[in-house]
Amino acid sequence: MLSSAVQVCWEKFCNYWDVEARFVPLSQEHRVFDGHNLDRYVDENTIGVVAIMGVTYTGLYEPVQQIAAALDAIQARTGLDVPIHVDGASGAMIAPFLQPQIEWDFRLKRVASINTSSDGSDIPVCSPGSSRTDTPSTGTCTTFPNGCA
Ligand SMILES: Cc1ncc(COP(=O)(O)O)c(C=O)c1O
Repeated sequence: MLSSAVQVCWEKFCNYWDVEARFVPLSQEHRVFDGHNLDRYVDENTIGVVAIMGVTYTGLYEPVQQIAAALDAIQARTGLDVPIHVDGASGAMIAPFLQPQIEWDFRLKRVASINTSSDGSDIPVCSPGSSRTDTPSTGTCTTFPNGCA
């Protein structure tokens, strides 16, 4: 489940991994994906919801906490336990320093993995972007370098 404003890498991922992408349209009222009408898109085959921290075209953060709350409500009603992957392309490099009060990361139990992209924050020329997965049971995090984009 993805916002219709995802970066093209997500369409590639879905094609290559044969994952059905369900795109939530944006509107004037919902300029980012915010969990609105999430229950129309989530079902027993949903492997995850992507929340973007720094939409490519606008830089806006999607409210991960609000999306997690919408998924909590769905779980309470249906039993479906759907994890969140945060596409923290630029925001994951910036929010921890400039907006530490925003909870968008592993502080939220529903966040299972995060990727970030240092080219998205204008740091190096060659992106050593990375992905992290959280294993709450063991308390470990694994970082996977994505290599140069
Ligand atoms: C929201 C978002 N996700 C993912 C990416 C892909 O990042 P990278 O090229 O570092 O893998 C970008 C790049 O523009 C992006 O804006």
